[in-house]
Amino acid sequence: MNPSQAYVGQAVSREDGIAKVTGQARYAAEFTLPNLTHAALVLSTVASGRISRIDGAAVEQMPGVLLVMSFNNAPTLPEGGHAAAGAPPSGRILSLLQDDVVHYNGEPVAVVVAQTLEQARAGADQLKISYVGAPAALDFERAKAQAYPPKAIMGGPVDSLRGDPVAASAPAAARFSAVYTTPIQHHNPMEPHATIAHWEGSRLTLYDSTQFVAGVGKTVAKTFGIPPQSVRTLCLYTGGGFGSKGSVWSHVVLAAMAAQKLNRPVKLVLDRTQMFGMVGSRPHTEQSVSLAADADGRLAAIQHRVQSHTSVMEDWAETSALVTRTLYACDNVATSHRLVKLNLGVPTFTRAPGEATGSFALEVALDELAYQLKLDPIELRLRNYAQTDPDSGRPFSSKSLRECYVQGAQRFGWAERNPDPGSMRDGETLIGWGMASATYPTRRSPASASARLLPDGRLLVRSASQDLGTGTYTIMTQIAADAMGFPLESVRFELGDSRFPAAPVSGGSQSAASVGPAVQAATLALRAKLIAAAVADRASPLFQLDPAQVEITGGWLQSRGDASLREAPLAVLARAPGQTLEAVTEAKPGDEQGRFAMHSFGAIFAEVRVDPALGVVRVSKLSGTYGVGRLLNAKTGRSQLMGGMVWGQSMALLERSDLDLRYGRYVNGNLGEYHVPVNADVGEIDIVVLDEHDTEVNPIGAKGIGEIGITGVAAAIANAVYHATGRRVRDLPITLDKLI
Ligand code: MOS
Repeated sequence: MNPSQAYVGQAVSREDGIAKVTGQARYAAEFTLPNLTHAALVLSTVASGRISRIDGAAVEQMPGVLLVMSFNNAPTLPEGGHAAAGAPPSGRILSLLQDDVVHYNGEPVAVVVAQTLEQARAGADQLKISYVGAPAALDFERAKAQAYPPKAIMGGPVDSLRGDPVAASAPAAARFSAVYTTPIQHHNPMEPHATIAHWEGSRLTLYDSTQFVAGVGKTVAKTFGIPPQSVRTLCLYTGGGFGSKGSVWSHVVLAAMAAQKLNRPVKLVLDRTQMFGMVGSRPHTEQSVSLAADADGRLAAIQHRVQSHTSVMEDWAETSALVTRTLYACDNVATSHRLVKLNLGVPTFTRAPGEATGSFALEVALDELAYQLKLDPIELRLRNYAQTDPDSGRPFSSKSLRECYVQGAQRFGWAERNPDPGSMRDGETLIGWGMASATYPTRRSPASASARLLPDGRLLVRSASQDLGTGTYTIMTQIAADAMGFPLESVRFELGDSRFPAAPVSGGSQSAASVGPAVQAATLALRAKLIAAAVADRASPLFQLDPAQVEITGGWLQSRGDASLREAPLAVLARAPGQTLEAVTEAKPGDEQGRFAMHSFGAIFAEVRVDPALGVVRVSKLSGTYGVGRLLNAKTGRSQLMGGMVWGQSMALLERSDLDLRYGRYVNGNLGEYHVPVNADVGEIDIVVLDEHDTEVNPIGAKGIGEIGITGVAAAIANAVYHATGRRVRDLPITLDKLI
């Protein structure tokens, strides 16, 4: 039985759109419970050392204050609070008030709970804490002398070596080396991290803003040493995550600890400044890239060595060189990843972790080599086009990168480009055109879904997935409607409850590719059950028909041969009182992941306009042409790619978390000084998704589009800035001081 094709791919508006614009969509912090209390976090003000004294007595006397929780009185957790550390996908070393040690400035050291948020905040402000400071490592430049290799890179090797890049470089006609740096960035989703913890006896319910409802419960249960089934996690909407909500951070467990101590529900919402430190960041990276090529531009060798910062508490590695292992055909490639320990909160997944930063270094280096060779940068990439994955040797399940270059160049008008820097002007304004490749791997994890025919005739499909604002509700509804043969409005898809059938973290661009097949399989199984019930039922007009001769179309069960033989699904249900028509199905990857290399690809073109006197860069046009398998929803898909591209612009020109090297605190931890593009900063955005049919990746044919949008964009803009100005900026963001 094949699904119909009525909805998937169409520009269907968001299922949750009306709920969101009318304020009916309830985010984690918007739930209210009887007896709810409010918590405020107190964060350390030194970067390293010990707490010598916390005196909560005065704060406990303040109006409305119910609890001051610190290492003095926090519940003792098994294994020092680290029982869940290392649990997949990324159990972190949390700060749970189990001792007096401070590892970074901004680490949670106390929680004040009060009747109201204002009272809790007032208490948190008044809490006096004394520290005995210790030397802290804050300066990447100094600390990098002690760089060391992480244990693994995405579960694979930390370093790679193919051929002999050093020997292959020596005789090469062109050689190029440079160092590229990218700054610490913080995710800054519109919705901050927020948790409500509610104990009823030994059972805990968490309302949490997360990318992984199943992971929250598992982590919290393990940390408390209680059975996983005693924790239920709910997250109906996530107002952006970008990787920061893929891990469970300290505040979630702290809310549960405080709620247990008080025996009342506790709400804990991070304020914007608290989002800078204790809930992950993109790490600072320093990447050294060396390229060698023959006179025709064929790459003889690539070396890409990455250093990124991590925390003194645990290792987290930015996988920036992975892209270099697979993007271009080259026989001699060496990559490595090293970590630099600093007294900062641990970095984490940030949209296209690795590929976003790595593609900046690699794709700018390629542009630099193209200038050295006097070769068009697209031509250089075409001459090194990888027909099979150079890293694994496997064929690509599909790859439209060549078409992306060709069509993207055509749409952009690349042929009109004069390659000489500074040669294109509009009056005084310098115009620059740059391009880069985009790529991100296609991932898939096991996922389950249930499909049930409701007593009102509608189809209810459920999976414990998440919608980060990307469109999961909508695409799953489309997939289910097509699989069932129901109109969209007769389908309801629910997610965000850990009691629903299991689904993976909404990270790694894998939700559509993982949950989509589960939703489709469960719905097809339900459809088969419904048809089987009809043809077996004497009272049905479809009685004794071959099930293969029965279809569901427009919400009706009918004979393929004779449309007059039909009935409503509800009629089947009505004749079997007490019976539920339901199917629960797991869908998981097969051996295709071992047979193929699976990646999305794209080509990015950027036009910048630079004021030569002031160094101000405006991006007047960004164009992205992508091969991402099947685009499930033309509207939400385009939005998601556009969001990624805008973040790429942000990475190129604006974003940087500035660290005070004396104290280890971010000095611009707010949206006034941590700059992100607003509408007025964004120029024309052109997005084309090529028609790519990939039958290998998964039954849905979607490769995932959560992350590819940001990749390549910073490089394309940096390359355009060079073309406009002749200034090569290798240190992001490209602020005006670097151009004047
Ligand atoms: Mo993504 S950075 O894997 O949420």
